[in-house]
Amino acid sequence: MQTRAIGDVRVGAIGLGGMPMSIEGRPDEARSISAVHAALDAGVTLIDTADAYHRDANEVGHNESLIARAVAEYGGDTSDVLIATKGGHLRPGDGSWTLNGSPEYLKKACDASLKRLGVEAIGLYQFHRPDPKVPYGESVGAIRDLLDAGKIRFAGISNADPDRIRQANEILGGRLVSVQNQFSPAFRSSEPELELCAELGIAFLPWSPLGGISKAGELGSRFAVFADVAGEHGVSPQQVSLAWTLAKAPVVIPIPGSTRPETIRDSVAAAELKLSAEELTRLDAA
Ligand SMILES: NC(=O)c1ccc[n+]([C@@H]2O[C@H](COP(=O)([O-])OP(=O)(O)OC[C@H]3O[C@@H](n4cnc5c(N)ncnc54)[C@H](OP(=O)(O)O)[C@@H]3O)[C@@H](O)[C@H]2O)c1
Repeated sequence: MQTRAIGDVRVGAIGLGGMPMSIEGRPDEARSISAVHAALDAGVTLIDTADAYHRDANEVGHNESLIARAVAEYGGDTSDVLIATKGGHLRPGDGSWTLNGSPEYLKKACDASLKRLGVEAIGLYQFHRPDPKVPYGESVGAIRDLLDAGKIRFAGISNADPDRIRQANEILGGRLVSVQNQFSPAFRSSEPELELCAELGIAFLPWSPLGGISKAGELGSRFAVFADVAGEHGVSPQQVSLAWTLAKAPVVIPIPGSTRPETIRDSVAAAELKLSAEELTRLDAA
């Protein structure tokens, strides 16, 4: 698979999102582990997780533990696999997502993630979402402290607007390596953040990158052009969607969620799918 940069390392251009393996509607663990192994077989080296990817209140870090186990049980070399986790969101167990961006909380959450992942330093630690009750600079200051203390190798943020991206990069002394925002055919309003990341040379990780495409039936004809282009190439509309996303800028690394080997294998093939300028223009206009 072609590779793209996160900080000074390179990862496969398509990553794997672990969230659907651990929240409501999750499959049994064996299926999720087979999806992780299929991803590694296909050359995926970026796996995105979070301490908040769990369903019940008493299983914080369900997904981190699952990913750590799947990687440990993989037969091949995993030394180049970057596990990206996050702190700052909580799930009290009633289906909701709450926030805590206080520095004390983030530092404790990072320590717990370190234990669950079984590493001395977390590959990429991302501040999950701004907490309106805590000044943004204080939350990002905690991430800087974790970086300085060597508890995390790389620092990232998520759900951030352009002002916050600039602020975070300044607080981190120019060491912000990634921004993870929602971006997909159905959700394009984070294009300014994507463009800013391209300008600054910061990786942009689109979350829910198949939004609209994995639910094409429900969303109707708006995405018919993705299916048309897919038909012309003999590939899935999801592959076209990911290839269109990758074509936005060389800093883009989508992290599609998958709980089945066949879906992640299909998504990885998007890294080699070449779309023409005319096709990209048609998809942009959809
Ligand atoms: N930072 C944040 O605030 C935030 C928020 C949401 C998500 N995320 C991250 O982003 C990741 C991706 O988002 P997501 O999981 O919500 O949504 P998504 O990637 O848009 O869609 C995931 C769904 O698409 C299906 N799928 C994947 N590849 C496919 C393919 N090639 N063909 C057909 N279907 C395919 C999967 O099905 P199967 O399950 O059947 O494989 C899965 O259920 C998450 O896993 C998480 O790591 C971050």
